[in-house]
Amino acid sequence: MSQSPFEHAGSLQIGTVDFVSPNEIKVALEIEAPESVTLNAGGPRPFPRVNSYVLIPVDDGFLVGQIEWLTVEQSTFPKRKGMQDFGLIDLPYPMRKMSLNPLGTLRKTTYGSSEEEEYNFQRGADALPPVGTGVLLPTEKQLRSIVESGEHKRVKIGTSPLAGNAKVCIDPDRLFGRHLAVLGNTGSGKSCSVAGLIRWSLEQAQQESDSVPNARFIVLDPNGEYTRAFSDSNAPVKARIFKVTPDTESGELLLQIPLWFWNSAEWCSITHASPKTQMPTLIQALRFVKDGKHPPAEKKSHDTRRFLSTILSTIQIEKNNGSPWGAFPKPKSFFEKLEKYKVGLEPELLSLTGEEETALKNLIEYIESLCKPRKEQYPHYDFTKPEIDMLLKLVSSAHFAFGGNESDTLPIDVDAPLEFRGDSLLRSVEATAEMLNVSEYAETMLIRIRSLLANTRMKSIIGDTENLSLHEWLSTYIGEDSAKNGCITVIDLSLVPTEVVHIITAVIARVVFEALQRYRKLNTVTLPTVLVMEEAHIFIRRYNADAENRDAASVCCQVFERIAREGRKFGIGLVLSSQRPSELSQTVLSQCNTFLLHRISNDRDQELVNKLVPDNLRGLLRELPSLPSQNAILLGWASELPVLVKMNDLPQLQQPHSDDPDFWNVWTGKDVDGNSVKRNADWKPIADNWQGKFK
Ligand SMILES: Nc1ncnc2c1ncn2[C@@H]1O[C@H](COP(=O)(O)OP(=O)(O)O)[C@@H](O)[C@H]1O
Ligand SMILES: [Mg+2]
Repeated sequence: MSQSPFEHAGSLQIGTVDFVSPNEIKVALEIEAPESVTLNAGGPRPFPRVNSYVLIPVDDGFLVGQIEWLTVEQSTFPKRKGMQDFGLIDLPYPMRKMSLNPLGTLRKTTYGSSEEEEYNFQRGADALPPVGTGVLLPTEKQLRSIVESGEHKRVKIGTSPLAGNAKVCIDPDRLFGRHLAVLGNTGSGKSCSVAGLIRWSLEQAQQESDSVPNARFIVLDPNGEYTRAFSDSNAPVKARIFKVTPDTESGELLLQIPLWFWNSAEWCSITHASPKTQMPTLIQALRFVKDGKHPPAEKKSHDTRRFLSTILSTIQIEKNNGSPWGAFPKPKSFFEKLEKYKVGLEPELLSLTGEEETALKNLIEYIESLCKPRKEQYPHYDFTKPEIDMLLKLVSSAHFAFGGNESDTLPIDVDAPLEFRGDSLLRSVEATAEMLNVSEYAETMLIRIRSLLANTRMKSIIGDTENLSLHEWLSTYIGEDSAKNGCITVIDLSLVPTEVVHIITAVIARVVFEALQRYRKLNTVTLPTVLVMEEAHIFIRRYNADAENRDAASVCCQVFERIAREGRKFGIGLVLSSQRPSELSQTVLSQCNTFLLHRISNDRDQELVNKLVPDNLRGLLRELPSLPSQNAILLGWASELPVLVKMNDLPQLQQPHSDDPDFWNVWTGKDVDGNSVKRNADWKPIADNWQGKFK
């Protein structure tokens, strides 16, 4: 027998509104309302349960409230419906109350019998109920509509236990398009969720397009967990895996990040170049080596033009650094440089005539006039700006007279990835230091560059990469046309030496970012790419912005900050996974528009997460410390309203390999299934490898 809507509504009523404010509604529960499980809404369901949903009829639909807390208040008499029974004495009676957060409105879209009804949920409540309105339990259908409403929900990621196991689906454009942060304690299921989101999205895309999706996921994997997760034979989820020590038989590839990929900031940070002398030297040396030229250490007679161009760019750099009028001994060293230039240029005059002679003569005379007063006893070395400008003008016209032009002196982009070899850089630094008259200050930096290049563990990553072109690198690491070589790249950073892992990570992230930036520039459309960063708190750690020296960690963090801020324009989505959100850079976190929150029990991290959500949604977050693994709260841009999701099951073989040590299995020599577990301790190859002794 079908019920009339009113009868039906009556049976689902569980209380009445007795307090209304825009952000809180209090409800007195009926005595007859269920105590733990409700059966009358079409299937057993826990009720009352914190964070579950109830409905309050308003103008043209239902206001959806989420239960924030439940309590019992002593009441002097039971609140009974109907006639009071005067034969009984009313005793103090515990009355249950609950508080609701108004979340949004559920409206009917199709009318008919209860089976045919369709609903649509929208965030925001434009009408509040009057006091005394009945509060209803939602039906299964209504409950599902609350969670399932929304457009383009293409990929199912799990179910919602609080909403009758409604399917939780996401729109990949929303999930990946505006950066996602997956936060939670170790073991709460972050890595499984990340691997799952990638896998389920790709599998769905493959189903819909009937071909390998034109997708790109780049997973930066500091623990080497993801090798197993994406080693299927199924094309879209078979990853290209890059390792320091690849198992080439199973198709793994050698991780190579050529040293000529690094930009000047990355070089300066890895060599700890001091900002005053070493940095300008290194940058100038990089410019020379990328240009394929070597700085003329001394003037060679057949190449006056190049000598002048070097002088011009050196003075320009010194001027920009403020050295000619800086603190002692900068002006003095600038003066010494000028003297050197003069000595180099003077012999040239003998063989010159015409325009060249005049221009050079003017320059030499001017240098002479600048140097003379500074050669006396107790001289005052400081130069003035007009003096330097005049000097630049004269060098420039001399350079012109010798046939030089603008592009000659226009310094080449020092950050462009132009090929060079490590030993050429060393020579270039030596020569540049000589030219800038700072050889003694550059020595420590040279030692660091030498030891970096000589490090055996580094050699395979940054050395021996001459045959790798930029074009090849981009196709293998970001992916070929139509993702022919697969949709996922896993970069295993676990064996990258710790002293360079930040720089290597920064370089990869930056090169990917700049490549996609250039892609959009040339094609006017973007190439959607997702960059996944596991253990993000290590690489995107807050840093001290005032520190003069940029260490590798802050250089790395800055790259991600830039990607977080600008990546969206160029089609890059970030997925961050971290167990210490409070240590993450705030700039990056504040750019994340979607959060998948697993169990978080630490106070500071909870506090931080609380700040990310609006006041009236915090109720759900109180559940964070007690979430079982595989359960998480999805909130933000990708989810119409915050939902508790039980993520899809990921079979053992598709799970990232967690790095928990298996003491017991090794001790007892077998695993839970009775398979034997062998762990030999052969130290010889380890010692040899360590000491660089190779057969
Ligand atoms: N979606 C899932 N499917 C199956 N098991 C899961 C899922 N999520 C978590 N788990 C279980 O939880 C454990 C810890 O998950 P993991 O992703 O390694 O956590 P985290 O990365 O947060 O440290 C896994 O070993 C797995 O047994
Ligand atoms: Mg993990």
